[in-house]
Amino acid sequence: MKVQSVLVAGAGQMGAGIVQVAAQAGLRATMIDVADEFIAKGMAGIEQRLGRAVDKGRLDAAERDATLARITTGLDVSAGADADLFIEAAPETVDIKRPLLERAAAVLRPDALIATNTSSLSVSMLAGFVAGPERFCGIHFFNPVPAMALVEVVRGAATAEGTVAAAREFCETVGKTPITVVDSPGFVVNRILFPMINEAACALAQGVASAADIDTGLKLGANFPMGPLALADLVGLDTTKAILETLERDLGDDRYRPCPLLGELVAAGKLGRKSGAGFFDYR
Ligand SMILES: NC(=O)c1ccc[n+]([C@@H]2O[C@H](COP(=O)([O-])OP(=O)(O)OC[C@H]3O[C@@H](n4cnc5c(N)ncnc54)[C@H](O)[C@@H]3O)[C@@H](O)[C@H]2O)c1
Repeated sequence: MKVQSVLVAGAGQMGAGIVQVAAQAGLRATMIDVADEFIAKGMAGIEQRLGRAVDKGRLDAAERDATLARITTGLDVSAGADADLFIEAAPETVDIKRPLLERAAAVLRPDALIATNTSSLSVSMLAGFVAGPERFCGIHFFNPVPAMALVEVVRGAATAEGTVAAAREFCETVGKTPITVVDSPGFVVNRILFPMINEAACALAQGVASAADIDTGLKLGANFPMGPLALADLVGLDTTKAILETLERDLGDDRYRPCPLLGELVAAGKLGRKSGAGFFDYR
């Protein structure tokens, strides 16, 4: 099935970004959340980003208006019940995602695709909440959605091949490059990226080099656009630590155990950019 309309649950960082790229690609997009204030915040973010693109000459004003006209909002799944694809981008807890997925499966057409943007929960486990789990998969966008080219399409144990194919086609329609991943902790990118960030933290803790020199080393020596420690500061050191703990637990391998320095910085309230300091000082 070719996706022409999408219903996104969650108007936060990820959901609003997904709605924006879908509407910019010409799809009808509905964004739902639990209260008007969250919808308003999500819409304000979309308008601001599109407005900046117009100011910079990357988008014409008519295209911005047409994009915004393709977006509708609501407070329940029923606001977009005719959508071809549902993507939940709600907070990362089963208690929130479960009723949302159950309701989407009950309200949407039986042939509609249903997807999760989860970063760390098992797609096969979430599929258990969807009547017709063969139409369910992960569609894992990266943050910030409008800027990041990659999407991981995650195949759960029950996901049909046709679902993976339709999800990949949707990603291409919205201008992204999909990779197909079997459901497993961290999928591909976080599983490889976070141990590297952890290794950088361990190297710093062992006095191998300064934080600035570690980052310069990886930028100039491995051609990374950003050093691993600056990236950890951007993600948030609390989130970085939590992701490593999940990998350690779910993969059952202590090579993913967070470096003690990460725990010390988090305990000291140094969470990275969002708190003003982490490996580097932003104040
Ligand atoms: N932030 C990231 O870098 C990132 C990257 C990739 C994937 N993800 C995943 O995307 C999902 C969303 O993350 P986020 O960073 O956008 O979170 P967020 O907190 O910015 O946004 C979540 C939104 O969902 C809303 N919400 C809560 N309950 C809801 C419900 N029942 N129905 C509809 N909306 C509801 C909240 O009000 C909030 O506006 C999570 O699963 C997360 O793991 C996040």
